[in-house]
Amino acid sequence: MKLLHVLNNEAISPPPVWLMRQAGRYLPEYRAVRGQAGDFISLCLNPELATEVTLQPIRRYGFDAAILFSDILILPMALGQGLRFAEGEGPLLPPLQNTTGLNIAAAPDVYAPVLETVRRVRAALPPETALIGFAGGPATVACYMLDGKGGGEFPRTRALAYENPALVQSVLDILAAATITYLQGQITAGANCVMLFESWAGIFPAPQFRQFVIEPNRRIVAALKSANPGIKIIGFPRLCGLLLGEYVRETGVDAVSLDTVTDPAAAIAACPPGTVFQGNLDPLLLKSGGAALETGVTRLLQAFRGIPHVFNLGHGITPEVPPENIARLMELIRNNAMPA
Ligand code: CP3
Repeated sequence: MKLLHVLNNEAISPPPVWLMRQAGRYLPEYRAVRGQAGDFISLCLNPELATEVTLQPIRRYGFDAAILFSDILILPMALGQGLRFAEGEGPLLPPLQNTTGLNIAAAPDVYAPVLETVRRVRAALPPETALIGFAGGPATVACYMLDGKGGGEFPRTRALAYENPALVQSVLDILAAATITYLQGQITAGANCVMLFESWAGIFPAPQFRQFVIEPNRRIVAALKSANPGIKIIGFPRLCGLLLGEYVRETGVDAVSLDTVTDPAAAIAACPPGTVFQGNLDPLLLKSGGAALETGVTRLLQAFRGIPHVFNLGHGITPEVPPENIARLMELIRNNAMPA
């Protein structure tokens, strides 16, 4: 598997490629299955349909990796917090007041269908295509649990970090423990590597970033690596800025996924030797296409020349991307092989 070679520190040209949110509303075949499932959560918990939408982008584009179709908020739901996705509004949860209602022991029964999806996808994928399992990073998931919705500001979580740090810490501790068990389940079911999405890592000041993002991520990486020698873990500390090098060094992730704003050369300089990079094409270039897309792809391939790199976006594909622009992206990457 090309993806695993790169995660093992090999520079390969052209690099392996997959895209965040590669299964999603930009694909007509996804919208058809989503309609059949009824709502998004039912789709995540239906192994037959979740397997189908995981495989759709692999069939269409031949990506080097599939990512399990699920959501980072399935875990808080499995812990007992209500979750719904309001059309056009994103996720909604009843903002958490305390942790007494959260039940770690009950979670595996709720997310069992997700692990069944992992088994089915692994069995159906071509042997050269890697399967990526994932979970939300504890800080990011805690933001949704405490604020009850997205939007990127998370005012309640940020206030609680000062006014009730014990509550925030206990949510993070529960999430770190539950995430270890959840990701272990995905690895046992056939995931070839795993990714932690800390999409809102960038909202915290440095001391809280260390406590809420780095420390729980470090704990998860250590536990998974001690139980699964050789397992590769990708971290995505989105918008963490100058704390990138510290994140990579202290958590022990094998690879770091870069957000759109991060300059590849600066990231390479900030991270320890041997770090593998993933990213970070601007997802908007997939909407625009044309010469801008060509320039962006060439620039990115050149920036990571000779460095182990997994081609990806800086954030997820948006629903308005024309599917043919992704076919063009694949052509550009695969015709752009250059001597490592
Ligand atoms: O293809 C893949 O990348 C795998 C599946 C996946 C989804 N969500 C499917 C999804 C993954 C890895 C995620 C992660 C996720 N979910 C994150 C971290 C990555 C990131 O984007 O920052 C976050 C923050 C969430 C929470 C979430 N889920 C939000 C805020 C939303 C609403 C926004 C939107 O696009 O509607 C979702 C819904 C969601 N997750 C969809 C998909 C395909 C769209 C749901 C639909 O079909 O209506």
